[in-house]
Amino acid sequence: MAAVLELNNVSKKFGGLTAVNNVSLCLSQGEILNIIGPNGAGKTTLFNCITGIYRPSEGRISMPGRDVRIDGFPPHRMAELGIARTFQNIRLFANMSVLDNVLCGAFCRTEESILDIVFRTTKFKMAETSVNSRARELLKFVDLSDKLYINGSSLSYGDQRRLEIARALALEPGLLLLDEPAAGMNASETNALAALIRKIRDKGTALLIIEHDMRFVMEISDRIVVLNYGEKISEGVPEAVRNDKKVIDAYLGEGDQ
Ligand SMILES: Nc1ncnc2c1ncn2[C@@H]1O[C@H](COP(=O)(O)OP(=O)(O)OP(=O)(O)O)[C@@H](O)[C@H]1O
Ligand SMILES: [Mg+2]
Repeated sequence: MAAVLELNNVSKKFGGLTAVNNVSLCLSQGEILNIIGPNGAGKTTLFNCITGIYRPSEGRISMPGRDVRIDGFPPHRMAELGIARTFQNIRLFANMSVLDNVLCGAFCRTEESILDIVFRTTKFKMAETSVNSRARELLKFVDLSDKLYINGSSLSYGDQRRLEIARALALEPGLLLLDEPAAGMNASETNALAALIRKIRDKGTALLIIEHDMRFVMEISDRIVVLNYGEKISEGVPEAVRNDKKVIDAYLGEGDQ
């Protein structure tokens, strides 16, 4: 499978603290890669480097199929390149309906000028109709069709996470990053999330996921990368990582802190 993302020796420093230390990894089309590691290991910082929120202090991030270097690109450029994400702390438009939350994501993908929008030209109206039906399609895909007009903030926690995923999918990403998507979910919500992630993968999107729920991680991942103190200490299929002594030590050590 073609690679969609490549990190070469990426580091991110905050003053004297090295949050991400010399990490290299590669992700292929349609692959589910999970990043795990104790609290503070540098997982979210790595996501922020990939999505343009931080510029890496060292190293190189690239999308091989597209022949571009993406480190240092601002977040909206990353979205144009097909990288979308959700956040560790849910970020929805709280006072907007479920449908409007996705419409906001979907409009980034249309090509109308501000004049088209202000004067509601035929071109705009056509785009509006197609964006609207696309948003409804996405909400059906994540199983929220019966909640289109409910306020985003009134949804259950699990549904808010699914709405965030629908909004990210409106960008039609080739690569989707999910930061702790199962956090706070009950067992049945987590199972539904796993099924949704597989459906997204089956459409050819690569997924990079940060998750602490080990049962979920072991079940869903094609491959796992383990970070500890910013460094990659292990990488491989779930079974191999689960039995890696370095990983077991890192997690046992966590309880001592
Ligand atoms: N903007 C920042 N400024 C300074 N230090 C930061 C910043 N962001 C993160 N850090 C530090 O970098 C390290 C890695 O943090 P990060 O949030 O990436 O960890 P994480 O693996 O996502 O942890 P968690 O599992 O708790 O979400 C931590 O020591 C954190 O305090
Ligand atoms: Mg984090």
